[in-house]
Amino acid sequence: MKIGVFDSGIGGLTVVKSLLKHQLFEEIIYFGDTARVPYGSKDKTTIVRYAIEAVEFFKNFDIDLMIVACNTVSAYALDDMREVSSFPIIGVVEAGVLATSNALTDKNSNILILGTKATISSKAYEIGLNKLDFKNLHAKATGLFVPLVEDEIYDGEIIEAIFRHYFAQTTTPDAIILGCTHFPLISDALQKHFSKNTILIHSGDAIVEYLEQNFEFTKKYPEPKLEFFASENPEALRAVGKKWLNI
Ligand code: DGL
Repeated sequence: MKIGVFDSGIGGLTVVKSLLKHQLFEEIIYFGDTARVPYGSKDKTTIVRYAIEAVEFFKNFDIDLMIVACNTVSAYALDDMREVSSFPIIGVVEAGVLATSNALTDKNSNILILGTKATISSKAYEIGLNKLDFKNLHAKATGLFVPLVEDEIYDGEIIEAIFRHYFAQTTTPDAIILGCTHFPLISDALQKHFSKNTILIHSGDAIVEYLEQNFEFTKKYPEPKLEFFASENPEALRAVGKKWLNI
C-alpha cells in the first residue's frame, strides 16, 4: 500500500512516526504545506481551499489512501476533500474519537480536548464523542504550544508558565486528547503537570488503531520508501524529519 500523509507543516511527522513504528505501509509520501502554516488560526473557507489543493497534489501520485495528519484540516475539510478525490481519505479526529472511546470504559470520564483555535471552534471532537455518549467534555484552544514545539521547547519554565495560564481553572482530567500534531512532543510535560494516570490520546497512535480496526494488514514493511514534499523550504522539513523520525 502506498499512502499520502498531509499536514499543514512539519507537525504531521509525529503521525508518520507512529506509522513507521507499526510498519504498515510500503511507501509513504508526506506533504507539508510549510509555506502557509499555521492553518489553526485560519477560517473554514481557507482551510477547505488549502485542503482541496493538497488532494490535487496527491493526485500526481498513485496513492491508495490519504491520511490527514492535521487536526485542523480533519475537523473542517474531510467531506469537501472526499468529494474531489478518487482515493479514500481518513483523518485524525475520527481516529482520535475512536481511540478515546477504546481507552475509556466510563462514559462519565472527564475528557480534556486540546487543539488549535480552529479545531476547538469546530467542536469536531465533542460532536464525535457525544455520539458515543461521552458528555463530560472540556475543550481548550492552546495554540501557543505550536510555535514553542517548532522552536524545540518541550518542557521547562516557559511551558510551565503557559500551562498555568491555560490550565488555572482546569481540574485534572481522566484523559487528554492531544488534538494537534505538535502536542505529542509536550506529552511528558502535560503528564507531569496533571497526573501520570491521565491517559493521553495521540493522533498518530490513534490513526494506527483506526487503520488496524478498519483495514486488513497482512504484511509488515520495516523499510518503507519515504518521500517528503513541502510547499516551502523542503530542506527544513527533511532536517526535522531526520531528527524526529531518527532516519
Ligand atoms: N497541524 C495543525 C493541527 O494539527 C497544527 C499547526 C497549524 O495550526 O497548522 O491542527
